[in-house]
Amino acid sequence: MNAYKQLLFALSLVIYGCAFNAASSPWEQLDADQLESVLTQKFADGNYSPKGADSCLMCHKKSAKVMDIFNGVHGNLNNAKSPMAGLQCEACHGPLGNHNRGGKEPMIQFGQNSKLSTQTQNTVCQGCHNDAKQMAWHNSTHNLEDVACADCHVVHAATDPVLEKLTVNDTCTNCHTREKADMNKRSSHPMKWDQMTCIDCHSPHGSMTESALNKPSINDTCYSCHAEKRGPVLWEHAPVTENCITCHNPHGSVNESMLTHRAPQLCQQCHADDGHASRVVQQPGVDAFGGGKSCLNCHSQIHGSNHPAGSTLQR
Ligand code: HEC
Ligand code: HEC
Ligand code: HEC
Ligand code: HEC
Ligand code: HEC
Ligand code: HEC
Ligand code: HEC
Ligand code: HEC
Ligand code: HEC
Ligand code: HEC
Repeated sequence: MNAYKQLLFALSLVIYGCAFNAASSPWEQLDADQLESVLTQKFADGNYSPKGADSCLMCHKKSAKVMDIFNGVHGNLNNAKSPMAGLQCEACHGPLGNHNRGGKEPMIQFGQNSKLSTQTQNTVCQGCHNDAKQMAWHNSTHNLEDVACADCHVVHAATDPVLEKLTVNDTCTNCHTREKADMNKRSSHPMKWDQMTCIDCHSPHGSMTESALNKPSINDTCYSCHAEKRGPVLWEHAPVTENCITCHNPHGSVNESMLTHRAPQLCQQCHADDGHASRVVQQPGVDAFGGGKSCLNCHSQIHGSNHPAGSTLQR
């Protein structure tokens, strides 16, 4: 080595040392794009740890949360397809590289604190989860709106809360605050007691239907539990066969029976306000048009009628 090269070498050591001795890690300064290229390089280098999880746990076993992965499916050594049977921690977090040396070279991080794009995070999961059940994900609103698998799923846990009936609504309403407000209104499906869940009607990974419904249409979704409303009936009420949510808010409402509006306004959105139906109730309760039920006092078979004389939905 000549003197000039020696000098360069010494200088590079100084720079290298400075960078890694700095109070905060230089990696923390990287933006998302720079981080992606560092990780791409790590994958190209392919420096996986020969000791697998053991090398990670030297430093990470103090965290109960990290250790919890061994209580879940991903920590199962006996399932040949599980990460623990293969690259272990690095199957999800990428190769160790120089992460265990000074300076905390970054690993793939998931969830809200991650600077990585949702796409990059999700690709890791999709490496193993790409069966038919994941088909709808690609075009789902959640995918297009950059929701990450790890926004809903917790893998460092014995049980993933989003897979449990008693906790799935909490995960959904973390983001869906409007539906959370609706489900706590006076009239709603029994979701606030977790007797019903968002996924009774919606597919979290998307579906072929608008609003990611489980069934091909809104009405089919409702009929799956309210079969008696399917008909056919002799006298149909057109809006009922067309779309239940013309009159109902499926998430809940301040009005009885989850109605979007109260009668008579509910009815007068479509029915002319002349003739007998036009009677505006100045003093609620004074006659059959008044009171909480209004039009329904007489037209009680609002979902349709099978009575031979039921054409005006009165019986
Ligand atoms: C020599 C100790 C050490 C070893 C070995 C180690 N880590 Fe880390 N790891 C750290 C430290 C320190 C941090 C930073 C923690 C912080 O900022 O709170 C960290 C952070 C992380 C993070 C958070 C994301 C990030 O980039 O900051 C992940 C994920 C992670 N490590 C995974 C692993 C995995 C997987 C392995 C094994 C392949 C491993 N670690 C091995 C010390 C270590
Ligand atoms: C199936 C993929 C997967 C495997 C395998 C896995 N992790 Fe994780 N890890 C995640 C996800 C996703 C998160 C975000 C929190 C969560 O979902 O539980 C995470 C979070 C972490 C964190 C916290 C980082 C932060 O955001 O602050 C550390 C540290 C970590 N993992 C280390 C490990 C270690 C060590 C192993 C092996 C024993 C391991 N992980 C195995 C997916 C995985
Ligand atoms: C190395 C392969 C691998 C990777 C990577 C992986 N998984 Fe898995 N995952 C599995 C296996 C194996 C199972 C068990 C399923 C089975 O046996 O049918 C599983 C099961 C699951 C389940 C169902 C859990 C249950 O209790 O039934 C969820 C949810 C899941 N993974 C989410 C994720 C998420 C989110 C990621 C990315 C952070 C991820 N997985 C990454 C292999 C993987
Ligand atoms: C909006 C929240 C949400 C997101 C985002 C999400 N999931 Fe799920 N996932 C769920 C729920 C809820 C279930 C349970 C479905 C059920 O019981 O019908 C589930 C079930 C699963 C299962 C086990 C059952 C099955 O269908 O195989 C796997 C595996 C899984 N998800 C992987 C993923 C992966 C991979 C991603 C990202 C590409 C992802 N999930 C994104 C909420 C979500
Ligand atoms: C990390 C935040 C987040 C979580 C958690 C989440 N979502 Fe979403 N969801 C969104 C965003 C963002 C959109 C798109 C904007 C909107 O419609 O509010 C969306 C849209 C939807 C839509 C409308 C879909 C469409 O195609 O129009 C439904 C239905 C939905 N989410 C149901 C759920 C359910 C069920 C869960 C729980 C299993 C859940 N979401 C969890 C963020 C989230
Ligand atoms: C009884 C069935 C049912 C249940 C339970 C249900 N939804 Fe819905 N949801 C629907 C229907 C039907 C639509 C379509 C409304 C529309 O197209 O205007 C919808 C629409 C949505 C939308 C899209 C709203 C918009 O303005 O585009 C979101 C987000 C949503 N639901 C989230 C949730 C969440 C979160 C839960 C659980 C708290 C939940 N839903 C429970 C039936 C249901
Ligand atoms: C998974 C089953 C299920 C599905 C799907 C379902 N419902 Fe319900 N619905 C229920 C249950 C359970 C109740 C509560 C019955 C009770 O309290 O006696 C209920 C009650 C109602 C009520 C009466 C609420 C009240 O305050 O009296 C209306 C209106 C209603 N549902 C409309 C709908 C509409 C519209 C749809 C489709 C968007 C739908 N439901 C889909 C199970 C379901
Ligand atoms: C034209 C408006 C309208 C449409 C459309 C409509 N409903 Fe209703 N629904 C009502 C009214 C009004 C009530 C309250 C009846 C009462 O108080 O006597 C009600 C009550 C209900 C109830 C609770 C009482 C009962 O009859 O069991 C359920 C369940 C229900 N509707 C389901 C549905 C379903 C399912 C659909 C779609 C097939 C639907 N509704 C379409 C107006 C409508
Ligand atoms: C979304 C529009 C819409 C709403 C809301 C609506 N209807 Fe109707 N209704 C119709 C249509 C369309 C017909 C069929 C009219 C026809 O065949 O001439 C109809 C028919 C009727 C009939 C039978 C009329 C006949 O000539 O035999 C009655 C009675 C009726 N509706 C009462 C009500 C009541 C009461 C409400 C409120 C609870 C209501 N409707 C809400 C659209 C609506
Ligand atoms: C006191 C009982 C009563 C009340 C309250 C009532 N209706 Fe009627 N409605 C009738 C009778 C009876 C008929 C049949 C009239 C006929 O055959 O000429 C009728 C007929 C109708 C028709 C069929 C076409 C028409 O106009 O003749 C519609 C639509 C209608 N009502 C809507 C409504 C609406 C909307 C309300 C609430 C604003 C309402 N009704 C309140 C008794 C009532």
